[in-house]
Order: sequence, then structure tokens, then C-alpha cells
Amino acid sequence: MSNVELATAKDIDAIASIHAISLASDVLPHFGRNYLKKYYSEIIQSPRKDVLIYRQQNKVTGFIVLRTGSFSMTSILRLKDIVVFLCHCLAKPSLFLRAVIQTVRQTHIADCECEIDYFAVAIDQQGSGIGKALIHAAENWCRDKNIQVLLTKTNNARLQDFYLREKKAETLKVFSILRETYKVFKWTIE
Ligand SMILES: CC(C)(COP(=O)(O)OP(=O)(O)OC[C@H]1O[C@@H](n2cnc3c(N)ncnc32)[C@H](O)[C@@H]1OP(=O)(O)O)[C@@H](O)C(=O)NCCC(=O)NCCS
Repeated sequence: MSNVELATAKDIDAIASIHAISLASDVLPHFGRNYLKKYYSEIIQSPRKDVLIYRQQNKVTGFIVLRTGSFSMTSILRLKDIVVFLCHCLAKPSLFLRAVIQTVRQTHIADCECEIDYFAVAIDQQGSGIGKALIHAAENWCRDKNIQVLLTKTNNARLQDFYLREKKAETLKVFSILRETYKVFKWTIE
């Protein structure tokens, strides 16, 4: 039996915790834990997004966010979230620049395409095959929906090599944010 399933509202806390720790340098966690939970609650209900989770012994240990159309993160932003973010920016001004560049650099998704928005595994479980199982499940999810192409963007150099080597991905764009190199990949699901 597969360990991968669609996330539901009861998984939001666990997903937000993994996101906050494993993707700690990402912009989203700096809007606060409440915003992160609101974000996942919203996308679980959205027809254009799904979250697949990896569950082991009843514990969520990884997730992947799949998006098939545009989704505005700003529609769920409240003043309180902005204040939390600005407080984080005071301590780390580069965050502001990162948020602006990420917003401007949104990838366009065509009808038969899907983008991996977020992908993370709990720190103590990384490197044991959960990520590969989630990618495999994401490809099956796409096949079910007649989606032929997966897109993703990452600054994780090891993962960039994985997409090139294992998925024979095409590199669509390369750009830097604060000395980190991001690559946008696209591959056809066989
Ligand atoms: C990237 C990540 C989701 C992969 O999940 P995983 O369960 O650790 O991965 P797997 O063991 O299935 O291995 C798949 C690939 O992930 C990458 N990977 C695995 N462990 C990793 C680690 N500790 N750190 C970075 N990348 C790792 C490797 O490229 C690996 O393939 P390879 O061993 O053939 O090179 C996970 O390591 C993670 O959460 N890293 C931090 C957040 C992150 O970089 N997310 C990526 C999107 S921005």
C-alpha cells in the first residue's frame, strides 16, 4: 500500500511544521505560523491546488504542493500577517527583497502543466526515499488529470542535479536571489 495520500484539514498543523523547519529560509514562514496554516487550509480547498502527504505510522513526514493554475497568496494576507513579516524583515532585511523577487518571478503554467510549489520532508527523515515517493505520486496525480508536464523551481543544488539526472529535465531559467542560484525545470511525464 502506498504511503502517499491527499492531505485533508487534519494534516495542516503537521504540514505547516515541516514547512517552517525544512523550508526555514522560504518567505512564507516569515508571515507567521497562523498565516502558514491559513495558506494550507486555503489550498486544500482550492480546485487548482492539491497537497500530497507522505504518512508513516500515522505521522506526516513529507508533502508536495501541486498547482495547476494561478493562486494568489495575497488574498489571504491580513494586516496581522504583514506586521509579523515586517518584524522579521527588520531583523533580516533580505527577506523583503526575496519576497518581491519571488512574486515577480512567478512561472506561467499552461493548461496541460502542473507546478510543484512546495516540496519538503521532515529534517530527520530526509535522504530516505520519501521525496522520490512524493515525486512519483505527483506524476501519477498528473497522469490522472491528463497533465503531461511538471514544472518546478528550486535552489537546492542536490535536487537540481536529481531533476537533470533522473527526470532528464529541461532547464527553463536560471536566476539568483541573494547569491543563491535558482533553476526552473520542466519535464514530460512518461
Ligand atoms: C528535497 C527533499 C524534499 C527531498 O526529499 P528526501 O526524502 O530527502 O529525498 P530522497 O531521499 O527521496 O532523495 C531524492 C533526492 O532529493 C535530494 N535530497 C535528498 N536528501 C537531501 C537532503 N538532505 N538535502 C538536500 N537534498 C536532498 C537528492 O537530490 C536526492 O536524490 P539523489 O540522492 O539521487 O541525489 C528534502 O531533502 C527536503 O525537504 N529538503 C529541504 C527542503 C528543500 O530543499 N525542498 C526542495 C524544494 S525548494
